[in-house]
Amino acid sequence: MTGNNVAARDGFSSKFGVVAAAAGSAVGLGNIWRFPYVAGENGGGAFLLIYLGFILTIGVSVMLAEFIIGRRSQSNALGAFKKLAPSSLWWLVGVMGIIAAFVILAFYTTIAGWTLEYLFQAIGNGFSAKNAAEISGMFDSFQHSTARPLIWQLLFMGLTAAVILGGVQKGIEKYTKLLMPMLVLLIVIMCVRSVTLDGAGEGLKFLFKPDFSKITGNVVLEALGQAFFSMSIGMGALITYGSYVQKDNRLPSTTFQIALADTGIAILAGVMIFPAVFAFGVQPDAGTGLVFQVLPIIFQQMPGGYIFGVFFFLLLTVAALTSTISLLEVVVAWAIEELKMTRRKATILFAAAISVLGVLATLSFSELSEFKLFGKTIFDNLDWLSANLLLPLGGVFIVIFLGWILGPKIIADEVTNQGTIKMKLLKIFIFILRYLAPIAILLVFLNGIGVFGGN
Ligand code: PFF
Repeated sequence: MTGNNVAARDGFSSKFGVVAAAAGSAVGLGNIWRFPYVAGENGGGAFLLIYLGFILTIGVSVMLAEFIIGRRSQSNALGAFKKLAPSSLWWLVGVMGIIAAFVILAFYTTIAGWTLEYLFQAIGNGFSAKNAAEISGMFDSFQHSTARPLIWQLLFMGLTAAVILGGVQKGIEKYTKLLMPMLVLLIVIMCVRSVTLDGAGEGLKFLFKPDFSKITGNVVLEALGQAFFSMSIGMGALITYGSYVQKDNRLPSTTFQIALADTGIAILAGVMIFPAVFAFGVQPDAGTGLVFQVLPIIFQQMPGGYIFGVFFFLLLTVAALTSTISLLEVVVAWAIEELKMTRRKATILFAAAISVLGVLATLSFSELSEFKLFGKTIFDNLDWLSANLLLPLGGVFIVIFLGWILGPKIIADEVTNQGTIKMKLLKIFIFILRYLAPIAILLVFLNGIGVFGGN
């Protein structure tokens, strides 16, 4: 370990390691599964535009804020607030983050489990000689079955726990550095296949041509929620990772690189999916199953599709894994530092506890599909609650905490590494932290849930 002030803690060993691990957290099912399905349900182009606007302003600011809080405090998501603002109630923001990690991991592992099933199918050549309707049927019958999705989900949670047991450098950093670039390459190849399909133009139009009549309060809130979810912000995952970052790391440029990678991959995923959606006559608002119904058809239609299919689902599994480990690490780092548990005990205990909620999420597609709260299944509630409520609200508290409680002096210190580098946009950053982000997030949230009437 080469960190200056982090000698006592496990930490990232290199700058690329930091970017790779945090980008590994950001890039995941949120980009490849959630972005296309939410964009598809919310009208495409206009949604994309608003989503990009949120990333550039609020998203990067919250991300940088989390890194600053993490590095400054050298603590987990809850301990950070306790340390930086002792004898106050700010630690409750950390509690909210830990709850969010619980909730997200529970439903995220459902989808990660689907990815394992698809990897298994791809290896067994299970998509071959099937038409679009048959592939869709395959997805339906898998999704509605009980045992298989559960087994895959629990297996995935086991994989996550295994990496977390290894600790930061040996576990998280090692795996992400190598596999992320491979995923990007494969997606680019798939994009080429997708945009050269007959009828691909419709899909590109859907994704890139904004139709402003589609914008409602709800669409704007969904775009905000997607930005938070995709960037892994609002719950302290990046506070936790920030605490492993070295003192000489240039946080603003690290933030920028991660945001760019995350957004680039979401857009590429859109370019990969939507042309095929239109070319094969799938409904863009097909919901959570969208990519699982479309991707196998693309593989069938490309030379070398078998091998691409296997690799793609393998790398998607890895992308999901680098996200789930960042989620579980939030909980485990807290349990180690605050509850004084061993890494081993914390990992096993919490992986098991979260799996209980996870099982309910998975059963939302089978046994519990009729069980609804607020008109939504358990799965949809967990998804909505985390992305559209917990993360944005966490974001509000995080920016207020940094902007008002820690204040400009500490901010300047951290972004300039004690005055050794310059940051041009410092004033704008502080303005966003103090005013723009908290007010905008609250307005979008209230408008999205219909407080100002109409939707
Ligand atoms: N950003 C991840 C994705 O896009 O798949 C999901 C996620 C990971 C959200 C970690 C929040 C988090 F703290």
